[in-house]
Amino acid sequence: MILVTGGAGYIGSHTNKALHNAGYDTVVLDNLSKGYENFVKWGTLENYDIGSSDLREVFEKYDIDGVIHFAGFISVAESVEMPQKYLKNNYKNTINLLKVMREYGVDKFIFSSTAAVYGNPEKIPITEDSNLKPINPYGHSKWLVEKALEREAEKGDFNYVALRYFNASGCDFDGQIGEFHDPETHLIPLILDAAIGKRDCIYIYGDDYDTPDGTCIRDYIHVNDLADAHIKAYEYLCNEGESDVFNLGNGQGFSVREVIEMCKKVTGRDFEVKVDERREGDPARLVADSSKIRNKLGWTPQYDLEKIVESAWMWHQKINGI
Ligand code: UFG
Repeated sequence: MILVTGGAGYIGSHTNKALHNAGYDTVVLDNLSKGYENFVKWGTLENYDIGSSDLREVFEKYDIDGVIHFAGFISVAESVEMPQKYLKNNYKNTINLLKVMREYGVDKFIFSSTAAVYGNPEKIPITEDSNLKPINPYGHSKWLVEKALEREAEKGDFNYVALRYFNASGCDFDGQIGEFHDPETHLIPLILDAAIGKRDCIYIYGDDYDTPDGTCIRDYIHVNDLADAHIKAYEYLCNEGESDVFNLGNGQGFSVREVIEMCKKVTGRDFEVKVDERREGDPARLVADSSKIRNKLGWTPQYDLEKIVESAWMWHQKINGI
């Protein structure tokens, strides 16, 4: 049995589905503060907080072999306003989870890390051995967990894989689950809101960056490709693989303007695009070198930006009744 924390959220629910398709049994642990009960269509939902001592009840009730840990807050902007909240929820609560795992002899852990641990990278594409210099409390909280995982592995009888996601995007192609944040801050769903007229326009946060069209470049990776990487990482640990850290990106960068153009093409809709000020804490370019996970775990992403936007558009039409 695999425990999927945060399995009612965006990436967690897609991975939970993929685990079931691959034949695994899961128990989803989620306090539903950000997740959605109806995203847990596979396995059993247990409503717990990972920071609580009641967590032991779940480890008593189920025979847990490993943990895939998604539960956490994800907003960079919110983390800047409320750093303590991120320290508590993302770092301290994970320490509690690790403690309980140790008590119950659960020795396999897959961790949702982030490209935000790199801060403003010195070179592009980014390799895993680049300097880790997070520039916001969100990235810092994930970096702290990575450090705690190193210490935990050094103690023995514990192995982990930390996966540093670049820009998770797209949705389940069956339309059963999708991306739904409240409030939404991510580029693609916001553009699609503009495409359906739910917003007047899409704002580009700065067009004076040192990039070809002046807008920020990101590496968009389909959520199902992320899900697949979690399964490969889990199986790697089951096969005695040693603790490791991997980037997860497509390896190709797209500017904000290019993503907007792709959304116009896929939806066939036109909408207004306005340029706003830069958003604080946005690096100009984040593009992954994912060759390590490709070579070591045999992971290959399947979906390009067009497929990402097509799947997001399908979901967006469904939830907006179009
Ligand atoms: N952007 C706009 N307009 C918008 C929204 C976003 O121009 O209305 C721009 C942003 O400035 C950025 C790009 O679109 O350049 C992508 O922004 P997102 O908010 O979709 O994603 P981020 O790159 O900021 O953040 C993502 C994850 C974070 C993670 C980070 C790692 O959401 O959790 O990648 O770098 F920390």
